Amino acid sequence: MSHPFDVAEIAASLASKSPQDVLKLAFEHFGDDLWISFSGAEDVVLLDMAWKINKNVKVFSLDTGRLHPETYRFIEKTREHYGIEIDVMTPDPRLLEPFVKEKGLFSFYKDGHGECCGIRKIEPLKRKLSTVTAWATGQRKDQSPGTRSQVAVVEVDGAFSTPEKPLYKFNPLANMSSEDVWAYIRMLEIPYNSLHERGFISIGCEPCTRPVLPNQHEREGRWWWEEATQKECGLHAGNLISKG
Ligand code: ADX
Ligand code: SF4
Repeated sequence: MSHPFDVAEIAASLASKSPQDVLKLAFEHFGDDLWISFSGAEDVVLLDMAWKINKNVKVFSLDTGRLHPETYRFIEKTREHYGIEIDVMTPDPRLLEPFVKEKGLFSFYKDGHGECCGIRKIEPLKRKLSTVTAWATGQRKDQSPGTRSQVAVVEVDGAFSTPEKPLYKFNPLANMSSEDVWAYIRMLEIPYNSLHERGFISIGCEPCTRPVLPNQHEREGRWWWEEATQKECGLHAGNLISKG
């Protein structure tokens, strides 16, 4: 890190800056300690912006084992298109195997997504984040009026920091709209997940994602059997914590 990182001061200075300016600042401070968290969906915009600033950008993806075939293909396409390495994190079999043995492959429809996300996403994410100083996500305010309307472009991670080690979290796309993101994808002709051609907007795991109808909010296609205010899988648990 080049010099101390005062989040409040930096956040204020970035208030009206572009996503690219946010990323530039993030790279200036954290260099190779900044990791992009890529889900294989429209957050390819974040990856594209980051790669254009730093060809050695570090990227990871959480392979829950339950992604759509289209998403696996898209992650591979992205890897080849940008000529980057992607750290694909997989769940710890010592946790996953007993869980599936006891509860089967679709327990989330009965008792909620918390336990499955905990094993398939959060544990691998924690393992990754324990080795980094800062991460960047493609979260946006407009993705969820219920949980993301307060997302800041930079924050101390409320969920994964430890008393010994603050973890910095950048959300450079926070103020972009879905329309902006798609204008970027189309204008620059960057690759996208083919599920978007079939009515999917927000894309997560296959059993927990479905396409939405015209004018339905994108988040309604995720964990549709659960309450809107709980639709965070734990990756961004700070969004729920900060709302009390
Ligand atoms: S989620 O928490 O509901 O699943 P969402 O799909 O909106 O998240 O994605 C928001 C951001 O979280 C993505 O832009 C990405 O940075 C991160 N993210 C979500 N899913 C993954 C994943 N499988 N691997 C890596 N990052 C992810
Ligand atoms: Fe499991 Fe669904 Fe969470 Fe994926 S989104 S980890 S399948 S509960």
